[in-house]
Amino acid sequence: MNRKQEPNEKFIVLAGATGYIGRYVFHELMLRGYHVTTLGRSKAQDENALYQHIHVDVCDDSAVAALEGDLPKNAAIISCLGSKTGGRRDAWEVEYGANQSLLRLSKTVQAKQFVLLSAICVQKPRLEFQFAKRTFEDNLIASGIPYSIVRPTAYFKSLAGQIDNVKNGKAFLIFDTGERTSCKPISGGDLATYLCDCLDRPDRNNRVLPIGGPGPAVNSKEQAEILFKLLGKPLKTRKIPSSIFKVINACLAPFGIFSEALSDKREFLRIGHYYATESMLIWDDDINAYDAEQTPEFGTESLETFYKDVLESGLQHHELGTHKLF
Ligand SMILES: NC(=O)c1ccc[n+]([C@@H]2O[C@H](COP(=O)([O-])OP(=O)(O)OC[C@H]3O[C@@H](n4cnc5c(N)ncnc54)[C@H](OP(=O)(O)O)[C@@H]3O)[C@@H](O)[C@H]2O)c1
Repeated sequence: MNRKQEPNEKFIVLAGATGYIGRYVFHELMLRGYHVTTLGRSKAQDENALYQHIHVDVCDDSAVAALEGDLPKNAAIISCLGSKTGGRRDAWEVEYGANQSLLRLSKTVQAKQFVLLSAICVQKPRLEFQFAKRTFEDNLIASGIPYSIVRPTAYFKSLAGQIDNVKNGKAFLIFDTGERTSCKPISGGDLATYLCDCLDRPDRNNRVLPIGGPGPAVNSKEQAEILFKLLGKPLKTRKIPSSIFKVINACLAPFGIFSEALSDKREFLRIGHYYATESMLIWDDDINAYDAEQTPEFGTESLETFYKDVLESGLQHHELGTHKLF
């Protein structure tokens, strides 16, 4: 499987190529003419002369370490890995463990760069997956390998969970007033462009890069307004107190210690509460608030166009997976 590295050839090792963002990144890399090796449980795509897949359990450190001889030296590594469940154990195995294995491999193949897809919410870590991500970010920063840590705000797909319900006449559910949290949503294509640009942008080296879509910031009520306007229907929302997550969590507390499954359910409730109460924007300690102005913008695709597309053609490749709630 060894591939001879020829002058001027650009080699990338991509983990997480089968995920929502990873698929966009893979496509973008192919368009840019990179030689891409994907690592994971399944292939990103079928045949392409510039593409090879190595079937490996990225959570198995020794299996990943054994790939040293199969990978081109000085390749850039891109990780779009993410826990699919957000459960406590899974978060540490994937967000931390699998990325750690990739980092060790990066050292042995003398990777020229490590581009990590992280998340803006890790700036205020309270959840297990956020601690796992932050711990890995710190290790990457300390590793000596040139890095770009990209922390995006919410993805379009994460704001698409209610489209079908609304289309079928149901109300758009908002937490509290619907004005408490905002984000600058970013499309998969725009984020993939941003991530791939990191490969050629020395000014993004050794930096933590929070990034949003083209803006402006939108809160939940405004998302509902966009959707109902596109449907030509009067706005219909249903308010849910964000405290509901805390109340249910408190009820489960006495039982959580007995079972990992229940402990994970409690973690999902914490995740729900976090997203119902925290904005996906830059947090400014000085003003003790989120600041849309300070949240960098990138890209051209708007949430409204995405909603319009989904209303007309369905979600197609925008599978929501376990992030549907958000
Ligand atoms: N949702 C948002 O709005 C948002 C916003 C900012 C940042 N983020 C972050 O962006 C990252 C990517 O998100 P995404 O939605 O693209 O993720 P996703 O669709 O869930 O894809 C995750 C990728 O990781 C792989 N993976 C997960 N668990 C694995 C395991 N146990 N063993 C091997 N591979 C595993 C998956 O491989 P398989 O296909 O084999 O399962 C897949 O390629 C995540 O870290 C997420 O926290 C998300």
